[in-house]
Amino acid sequence: MQFQNFDIDGFLRDYWQKKPLLIRNPWVEWVNPIEGDELAWLACEEEVEARLITRKRDRWAVEHGPLAEARLQRTGKNPWTLLVQAVDQHVPEVAALIAPFRFIPDWRIDDVMVSFAVDGGGVGPHFDQYDVFLLQGAGRRRWRLGGACDASTPLASNEDVRLLTHFEATQDWVLEPGDILYVPPRVAHDGIAIGDGCMTYSIGFRAPSRGDLIEGWSASLVEQASADDRYVDPDLQRQDNAGEISRAALDRLHAMVTEALQDREGFARWFGAYNSAPKYPDMDWTPEEPVDLEDVRDALDAGAILCRNPASRFSFYRQDEKSVALFVDGECFDCSGEIAALAERLCAQAQCCAHPDDLASHAAMTLIVALINQGSLALEEEA
Ligand code: SIN
Ligand code: CO
Repeated sequence: MQFQNFDIDGFLRDYWQKKPLLIRNPWVEWVNPIEGDELAWLACEEEVEARLITRKRDRWAVEHGPLAEARLQRTGKNPWTLLVQAVDQHVPEVAALIAPFRFIPDWRIDDVMVSFAVDGGGVGPHFDQYDVFLLQGAGRRRWRLGGACDASTPLASNEDVRLLTHFEATQDWVLEPGDILYVPPRVAHDGIAIGDGCMTYSIGFRAPSRGDLIEGWSASLVEQASADDRYVDPDLQRQDNAGEISRAALDRLHAMVTEALQDREGFARWFGAYNSAPKYPDMDWTPEEPVDLEDVRDALDAGAILCRNPASRFSFYRQDEKSVALFVDGECFDCSGEIAALAERLCAQAQCCAHPDDLASHAAMTLIVALINQGSLALEEEA
């Protein structure tokens, strides 16, 4: 699916991370990719994260999945909404919704949550820490937007829903199928289904917190640190008061920490692996028996294509002109020379063909085999 008449540069300049934008049906042809009963079926699966939120006047009740089929058949008279996380990892047609949003880099994309609501259903006024495109799939939803929130904004005590105690709408829109509302982080919003069969796709982004980055990167430094790498002071001078920690000692201690943290190359490798770690490792494509390089070469030679597991995260960064570091599902692969181009092709698209050069290269075939054996890639016979 594709957009028409959508000014990406103007959006990035004026709206992204700045202010909300309502985009009236920008699709060449909008087709809703999943039905309500298919979503309900997913919500009953063990490995799928789902919630059923019911509203009784001003009280919200949350039930966490996996939900029982019988529960979804008896939803009662009160307005309800079913929310299913990471549907893109289960339904390729939903994964395809991300493609037109790839003017934002893949590493920033989190997942596609899908909600299905009856008349009056919604999750209540709240704010999220992340950017989101709220795409109306079917039916209609009224979205009201409020002001910017932060950590001090009062929230209702019900831990499960984290609703705003005070919400005043400054913008009010009704979205029809194909319409998209962009909401920047921490902007208050409230979406209420108008009529039954309201389906909304939340294309959600991720932005690591400084705390998470410091915690993760320093934990990785600690893991690599040697017990011998320790404070030394062969130039120790006598001091007037033995009780003082001298400025020189503190400078040296502080430098031990900051020098380690400043390792830019090490940080890039850690971050790539950290960011590509699978969120839902249950989507396992690992073959029962490890595949063999010659068999993979034969299949590719016969026209099979390489398909990425929709739950897998692929990204790379350029180390120098000839080499890239490829990150797939938490693993780092150094790809130089002939396989750098293959790594970039794997990151560019969800499916790709092997080139004759790849088939002739042992390094390229070894990379493909490793990715198949870790469940990140699979071979698909050409239709
Ligand atoms: C919904 O789809 O009902 C909720 C999405 C959101 O507000 O983030
Ligand atoms: Co939200």
